[in-house]
Amino acid sequence: MLALIGTIISMFNDLLLKALNKEIVPRPPVWLMRQAGRYLPEYQKIRSKVSFLELCDDPELSVEVSIQPYTRFNTDAVIVFSDILLPAQKMGLDLEFTEDGPKINNLITHEHQIKALKIPMANEETYPTLTAIKMLKKEVGSKVPIVGFSGAPWTLFCYMTEGYSSPNFHKAKKFLHGNPEAAHQLLSKITNTTFLYLTMQANAGASVLQIFDTWAGLLSLEDYRTYALPYLKQLLSDLLPLKVPIILYTNNSHHLLPKISMLKVNALSLDWRCNLQEVRDTYGSSLGLQGNLDPTILLTNETVVREKTKNMISGIKDWNKGYVCNLGHGILPTTPIENVNAFLETVHEFVSNPVALSS
Ligand code: CP3
Repeated sequence: MLALIGTIISMFNDLLLKALNKEIVPRPPVWLMRQAGRYLPEYQKIRSKVSFLELCDDPELSVEVSIQPYTRFNTDAVIVFSDILLPAQKMGLDLEFTEDGPKINNLITHEHQIKALKIPMANEETYPTLTAIKMLKKEVGSKVPIVGFSGAPWTLFCYMTEGYSSPNFHKAKKFLHGNPEAAHQLLSKITNTTFLYLTMQANAGASVLQIFDTWAGLLSLEDYRTYALPYLKQLLSDLLPLKVPIILYTNNSHHLLPKISMLKVNALSLDWRCNLQEVRDTYGSSLGLQGNLDPTILLTNETVVREKTKNMISGIKDWNKGYVCNLGHGILPTTPIENVNAFLETVHEFVSNPVALSS
């Protein structure tokens, strides 16, 4: 009986949890940001029948889509299929997804709109994603960790005040600089909403949480300290009692690393502009890290993918402690499947053996 329980327990792939807890692992865990998505024909098939928002709001379909990359590539994590902008919609914004990406039709331009925004209750009625997490937990949770996620307050603020994706978020920054008090009110509401949502994701069965601060790098260090950091810190300290490992993603944020590296997260997920070993040399040899292959490398061919992936891992001295292999940003929709396979296989087969490395 004990042996049977042992076998069942050992069937759980705990590489990600071990890496995030800084335990030694035989190879780094690996998953991909946006691993469920348009590069997969099985995703496209479902998307041809329903809109993106319908997919996010249908637990059964989002479970199916969340599991697709796990089934195909045996990833070391399953991330629940949803979007960081759904809480903004639940707060009261009119969100749609067009061919060009997200669009908020009643974006925030005035202080009075902020007062009207809700801090929604985080229950399954408001967030079908919570039902999806529960279902995922039942379906694959005994085999692989489930990752829940949200946007960071600043990144959600960007979309809520700009209305759509932008390379520079000028409107969002104008709002911030022109109405600092209102900006703080909005950031505070977003933080409270996000806290409730992430807490309920953990309660529903997410065993890791990732917070996406995609647009952190748009802020100066000074503005990051004023408008982003206090809310992230509040969120992280409020989440601490859950004892769920947390990954924080930031993009283009070299100049912010002195501050970001002090945050109490299990891993920082960084983009390809950072050299991960240099980050550890500068900010702490035991810093938990995730990343950071340039997603455009996955557009090339299997040979290039294998070589760059090996180089990335072996470029980190202690890759077997506190490191999670991933891309530096989401996978691109035109990525060939065989290259994704080559990436995953290279990590799965990775051993710190120089002969294997050069093969
Ligand atoms: O990682 C996963 O597999 C889980 C699902 C997930 C999606 N978006 C699905 C999605 C996650 C974790 C996100 C996060 C997200 N969403 C971020 C942070 C990470 C990042 O990429 O910077 C941001 C900024 C968004 C907002 C968003 N959603 C944008 C800007 C877009 C349009 C651009 C694009 O990639 O299409 C989306 C749409 C979106 N979110 C798609 C998917 C699969 C494509 C929608 C489709 O099927 O048409």
